[in-house]
Amino acid sequence: MFDRIYRSTVLGVAGQKPIEHLVRSRAWSVAQRFVAGEESGAAIAAVKELAADGVLGNFDLLGEFVTDPQTANEFAERILALQSQAAAAGLKPYISVKLSSVGQGMTVGGTDLGLTNARRIVAQARELGGFVCLDMEDHPRVDQTLEQFRLLVGEFGAEHVGTVLQSYLHRTEADRDALDDLHPNLRMVKGAYLEPESVAMPQKADVDASYRRLVYTNLKAGNYTNVATHDESIIADVKLFVLGHGIQKSQFEFQMLYGIRRDLQKKLAAEGFTVRVYLPYGRDWYAYFSRRIAERPANVMFVLRGMLKG
Ligand code: FDA
Repeated sequence: MFDRIYRSTVLGVAGQKPIEHLVRSRAWSVAQRFVAGEESGAAIAAVKELAADGVLGNFDLLGEFVTDPQTANEFAERILALQSQAAAAGLKPYISVKLSSVGQGMTVGGTDLGLTNARRIVAQARELGGFVCLDMEDHPRVDQTLEQFRLLVGEFGAEHVGTVLQSYLHRTEADRDALDDLHPNLRMVKGAYLEPESVAMPQKADVDASYRRLVYTNLKAGNYTNVATHDESIIADVKLFVLGHGIQKSQFEFQMLYGIRRDLQKKLAAEGFTVRVYLPYGRDWYAYFSRRIAERPANVMFVLRGMLKG
């Protein structure tokens, strides 16, 4: 219950314009713990640095909840440019996209603009041998994101597009079951948005239990599973589970966020597991940064100390 109160307080405060202005102007040096840089060149350099530790990268151009088609199209162009740049730097582009940033919910020419732009992005990723993961946002977007994911898998194949399921939502186990026919590539997360109890579990213990069930069921179904968590007890249990069920290391990977548990990332990679780090970059870092602060009380002190120093 404390987790929920803490998270809603931080996200509530962070949503106020004067606070946003203050943090944006004073906290960039602090935000850099979680954000790889403001430009794509910095993100590509950061992926190369991770590679030195045997860790893979997942680019995320920051931005979400875009409200006009022109901005959404510009955002999509920037993602296409990133994929080309990454390929030119010798990388197979692996990126995450929030459909709200490329026009989901806006109809242009009779089709959802988010879907149109996602098609362009996934088509290019397929050409470059890359992969696109559709991030999962707040609960009103889940239905449309899963529908669009199904279409994209049908058109481009599950080896080029995946999506995310959030264990805090009551609906998620049924959503996972319904996707099995696609043999999907799924990233399992606990969930980072402030959601009402009518749709999301308020107790952390329930969210954690649901997380374990989702990962185990998905692995048993033979689907590629991205175990995206920093939770050491879950990671230890997943290691035991795969050992006990004869599941190969090639069927799953561990994923973590840039700037969080670098020690654990390196350790898992050294043990021979595939480890991928979600690497956000861009100028629109505020909402992402607020969610990271809302995940952990100690992070508020980290921000305040950084702002006072800056
Ligand atoms: P939990 O919150 O229980 O934390 C476990 C431990 O991890 C903590 O004790 C602490 O040590 C460390 N930790 C966690 N968060 C930290 C932080 N902010 N700062 C410092 N330490 C921290 N969510 C979503 O809704 N949609 C999405 O598409 C994604 N995508 C995504 C991709 C990847 C690769 C990851 C790792 C996570 C996401 N998330 C997400 C975020 C996810 O929902 C969740 O909010 C965070 O991963 C934190 O939850 P944990 O599973 O780490 O567990």
